[in-house]
Amino acid sequence: MKNILGIGAGYVGGPTMAMIAKKCPEYRVVVVDINPQRIVAWNSDQLPIYEPGLLELVQSARGKNLFFSTDIPKHIAEADIIFVSVNTPTKTFGLGAGKAADLQYWEKTAREIVKYSKTPKIIVEKSTVPVQTALAMQRILDANEAGIHFDVLSNPEFLAEGTAIRDLEYPDRVLIGSHETESGLKARDVLVNLYANWVPREKILATNVWSSEMSKLAANAFLAQRISSINSLTPFCEITGANIEEVGKAIGMDSRIGHYFLKPSVGFGGSCFKKDILNLVYLCEYHGLKEVATYWEQVVLMNEYQRTRFTRRILSAMFNTVAGKRIALFGFAFKANTGDTRESSAIRIAQELWQEHAKVVITDPKALDNARIDLKDILADIVLEPDPYQAARGSHAIAIITEWDEYRTLDYAKLYQSMEKPAFIFDGRNILKHRALYDIGFNVYPLGKPPLIHFGK
Ligand code: UDX
Ligand code: UDX
Repeated sequence: MKNILGIGAGYVGGPTMAMIAKKCPEYRVVVVDINPQRIVAWNSDQLPIYEPGLLELVQSARGKNLFFSTDIPKHIAEADIIFVSVNTPTKTFGLGAGKAADLQYWEKTAREIVKYSKTPKIIVEKSTVPVQTALAMQRILDANEAGIHFDVLSNPEFLAEGTAIRDLEYPDRVLIGSHETESGLKARDVLVNLYANWVPREKILATNVWSSEMSKLAANAFLAQRISSINSLTPFCEITGANIEEVGKAIGMDSRIGHYFLKPSVGFGGSCFKKDILNLVYLCEYHGLKEVATYWEQVVLMNEYQRTRFTRRILSAMFNTVAGKRIALFGFAFKANTGDTRESSAIRIAQELWQEHAKVVITDPKALDNARIDLKDILADIVLEPDPYQAARGSHAIAIITEWDEYRTLDYAKLYQSMEKPAFIFDGRNILKHRALYDIGFNVYPLGKPPLIHFGK
């Protein structure tokens, strides 16, 4: 039996390795992490991350050909293929701080691989990395004194949180970048055959290493750009009477544009979009491509604008003061069906409302533990409340931040009864029935549509 090792048991590494184990029973898959608590959690039924279908997937393979361990040296030594999914956050110090990718964990991992390896291995770059990182990795690995041969492949992961299991099982494509050398192509074929256990061959795309690394950054940049584009039109619609939903539908029906990723929002969050675009911006600046850098940076700046605009709209609608007013934020996760709050717009919105001396109450079905960490500096002034009805009680306003399905079907007449009047709803995801809310008595502020208000504008 061949051995696969996954280094990094996070949102990417954990689910990906579990899927490989399930689909490739001829491989023994071990996942390691420097964080021992994470490994304990992966070995329990309280997994460290929430993802629909993940627990069932892990349970189906764990103990058979899927194992979680902290013994990094042993498993490096035993592995034939190593997938590296350690985090590559934005650098917070030195050259490129705030934009470039911090590759220290990646490099440390490469050096550990060198240190503990005794046999040749295929190293698979799963983490999103700057273009040409594989070259640096190859050089570190090739510097091993034992003369062990390593092949580095780029195999970026395109899964989205909340739908990770489906994305892994039925990917749009699997991208594998390899060097066009004899051993590079052989390594590529090993990985192609691995995925071919469940992914149709025509969906497995082989490219050179740099195209593969670049494609991951480009895919995230394009997706984020669509959201910023639709969000950029929301203030215009609010003023003119155009309806962003109608506009989105009308443009999305053009098959050249397509209807995905055109939902207006309080701004995109998540661990990847901002980080990867800033990484692209940094690389462009580094290579002297100022205009290209400015072009992509605008996608992030538009997102910041959308977040702040949401809080300003709350403030201006509520008579320019929210001091002392209870405001219930419905949702804290960066999107529905995850407990992940990394880069969630909710963080900024909660902080800005707190700065205005609002009494912020936060409810979310999965993300309150993370909210507690994200807002630790202002936690004394914030209320975390799992029950949305309790959160809304005595509030002047509800603001929908995350598009959880359960917020669509709450009893809004009951919520209205329990709130201060005039009662406001700010729908940062456009998931509610705005006319019906208005009829209940709410003053309704959708995104990209004129508000429905009971008093003069
Ligand atoms: C992260 C990045 O966000 C993403 O861009 C990249 O493509 C893959 O890595 P994610 O899985 O969401 O994705 O990160 P995270 O949940 O933080 O998991 C990374 C894991 O690696 C953590 O559990 C961390 O403890 C572990 N790690 C980190 C190691 O095992 N070794 C290290 O040296 C550093
Ligand atoms: C993204 C990419 O989709 C995925 O391919 C990559 O591997 C990692 O980054 P993720 O961040 O998990 O995945 O979720 P995604 O569904 O892309 O949503 C990102 C953010 O954009 C969320 O805050 C979401 O609410 C927001 N969004 C998405 C919108 O505001 N409008 C949309 O139309 C779609």
